[in-house]
Amino acid sequence: MSANALTPTARFRAVFSGEPSSRCFSPGRVNLIGEHIDYCGGDVLPMAIDRGTDCAYAANGSTLLRIHSMSFDETVELDLGALPAARGHWSDYGAGVAAALESARGVDIVVHGTIGGGGLSSSASFSMAIGYALLEAAGAAPETDAERLMLAQQCRAAENDFVGVSCGIMDQASIALGGIVRLDCDSLEFDRVEPGDMDTVWVVMDTRHPRTLAGSRYNERVGEIRSICDQCDVPGGMASLCRVVDPDSLQGPGGPFSGLDETLFRRLRHLATEQTRVTEAARALAAGDAATLGLLMNASHASLKGDYEVTGEALDVIVGISQGFDGVYGARMTGAGFGGCAIALVAREAVRAHADHVRTAFERETGVAPEVFTVTAAPGVGLEA
Ligand code: GLA
Repeated sequence: MSANALTPTARFRAVFSGEPSSRCFSPGRVNLIGEHIDYCGGDVLPMAIDRGTDCAYAANGSTLLRIHSMSFDETVELDLGALPAARGHWSDYGAGVAAALESARGVDIVVHGTIGGGGLSSSASFSMAIGYALLEAAGAAPETDAERLMLAQQCRAAENDFVGVSCGIMDQASIALGGIVRLDCDSLEFDRVEPGDMDTVWVVMDTRHPRTLAGSRYNERVGEIRSICDQCDVPGGMASLCRVVDPDSLQGPGGPFSGLDETLFRRLRHLATEQTRVTEAARALAAGDAATLGLLMNASHASLKGDYEVTGEALDVIVGISQGFDGVYGARMTGAGFGGCAIALVAREAVRAHADHVRTAFERETGVAPEVFTVTAAPGVGLEA
């Protein structure tokens, strides 16, 4: 039996020689639509999914945070009174969260990630799991939506300030709230979206294409948006850019954004059109209108490819293969892009044939066998029975 065949509870006993007091599950997420607009105050439509991070943990009566990763088969010991600076290690996310929460009570934690490929927010799932465990073990588990969103903001701060990735709030908020939400990333107001009857399935297609430069290229896009806000003197700056840009404000000479160079103009056009697509997609999803939703997903991918330039060859190939298959309503990259995963909205009866087709055609074209699997909505981070 391989070491990873153990459950987090069994691993906890083996590593920490004691019993965990609790287990929690922190989901991953797929973003259905609304990509690269969360850090500019746009609306997004993420779904928390049934793959994520499983944890077993217990307070240890010291000031040490000890995290054991089952994936890396490694235990890291952090002194909560003297947390180290980020060092490019998986445990940076844990240290960053402990710093953001100002945790003082030591906890032993075993984490087991079940997400797999990039693009489904394994890092936010991990951070939110650690944050939840630290709070719960101290008797302060977040219960209300407001408390959950507070934890999301602290985990985002950890990623921004400690790890150094300028991510928005979408992933952490989705993991905090669970289900499908339409989230205003400026005000953090949200609606839960109950899908209408569509007889469809959400399918993830992992290109297994590494995203080695993802962090820096992500930050490059954020930098471009910041420069748009500086050049055009956007009131409220980057955090509310999506509130002041719409497809009309981009028209004609003499408009507020007419002085931008061609590249920055295309970046802005993506924000404006994507924002509109989210509104329409939320409506289509609630109405069970798979055809409209699918077309919006396809248009989103095209905009991320042409205007925002965050897709890359592997994602374009897998999305193209999927979109061309009978029974697929729409497909697009999900998450930061530059490799990682795409999603497709597929008629239930076509799911198996679609998966076989994507696997065969993508491997033929790229030499890499992709992983294709279905996902369903999951609740937000919380205790497991
Ligand atoms: C990553 C970030 C999110 C968001 C997406 C792109 O997942 O963590 O904040 O910006 O990319 O939509």
